[in-house]
Amino acid sequence: MFDPLDTALTRLLGCRYPIVQTAMGWVATPPLVIATSEAGAFGFLAAGVMTPAEVRDGIAAVRKGTAKPFGINFHMFQPGAAEIVEIIIQNADQVRAVSFGRGPDAKMIARFKDAGIICMPTVGAVKHAQKMVQLGVDAVTVQGGEGGGHTGSVASTILLPQVLDAVKVPVVAAGGFGDGRGLAAALAFGAVGIAMGTRFLMTQESAPPAHIKARYVKAGTDDIVVSTKVDGLPQRMIRNKLLDRIEAEHGLGIWKRGMESGLAMKKQSGASFGDLFKAAQGMRSHGGLTIAQAMTAAAAPMMIQKAVVEGDADNGLMATGLVAGRLTDLPTCQELIQSIMSEARERIAALTGATVVSGAA
Ligand SMILES: Cc1cc2nc3c(=O)[nH]c(=O)nc-3n(C[C@H](O)[C@H](O)[C@H](O)COP(=O)(O)O)c2cc1C
Repeated sequence: MFDPLDTALTRLLGCRYPIVQTAMGWVATPPLVIATSEAGAFGFLAAGVMTPAEVRDGIAAVRKGTAKPFGINFHMFQPGAAEIVEIIIQNADQVRAVSFGRGPDAKMIARFKDAGIICMPTVGAVKHAQKMVQLGVDAVTVQGGEGGGHTGSVASTILLPQVLDAVKVPVVAAGGFGDGRGLAAALAFGAVGIAMGTRFLMTQESAPPAHIKARYVKAGTDDIVVSTKVDGLPQRMIRNKLLDRIEAEHGLGIWKRGMESGLAMKKQSGASFGDLFKAAQGMRSHGGLTIAQAMTAAAAPMMIQKAVVEGDADNGLMATGLVAGRLTDLPTCQELIQSIMSEARERIAALTGATVVSGAA
């Protein structure tokens, strides 16, 4: 029997449901990836803020918690990137996919594909999607402007059909999704599934402390803003004391904060100044940033870490998608995925006149 929820994505990733938990630095740690993958969706481990040793340990922890396939997110400009690529390839029997924004070249993509690993970058613009397809990726996740973390200005309702028209590979919809209505809508557009960050941050198994998750629950859409002041690129966050301070900063203040974040990152990751400078240079050549902005960009995750790991809601940054403004609960991954699947089935049945088979999530 035809099942509209059994898509090219579930076949590509080897998961049961067309739902992806995207990578979020400090948030998508092994417990979230395990819970997601065990519940039938597909989880990405956020390795973009990890050292090679942490990536090795993180992968081992996920493997211990689930036998299901999962993914790794990283970027080529992070310290230790070459070693991280080797670690991923050594685990190709269970690491089914890699995701990246600033990313590998055609040669690296071919290496992953030779190892049987699906390359599924996240893109925020049509030309970026086309470039990635030219480089040989298997699928793209397209993130509309509603999305969390770094984000563009074009909404999912516009960007998704644009990308679907522009590329031939399977397209996953991201940016603003949080429930089964969104999944049904994404499939109606022609996507093969949805990818969600914020909705998975707002679950029981994600890493942030409870009082930080409570801030996400409390935030309304008016409390969520996009700032370009953190690292020169638009980034969506919950408004708080630190963000207000950053918004009021000028020239020297940006440099000072860049150096402070750089020092904190150096301490945490063991990276040398040379490594940080290399990461900053890579981001600069990619994003057209000044070196001060690029240095801050390379170290910006430390400011997110201060909130989502250390629990400092005033002096750290709470990256979020706009969808947090309408979410009011913190379900387990199992509850979340089951409710998305049954709601999607109900919506599709209502539109097509099909009967929903109870328990068929
Ligand atoms: C707290 C937070 C941290 C994030 N960290 C990363 C990251 O480390 N790497 C990355 O590629 N994307 C990162 N993102 C973006 C997400 O992976 C995803 O693309 C985005 O959240 C999708 O939009 P949504 O939040 O509306 O679901 C982050 C998003 C959030 C909310």
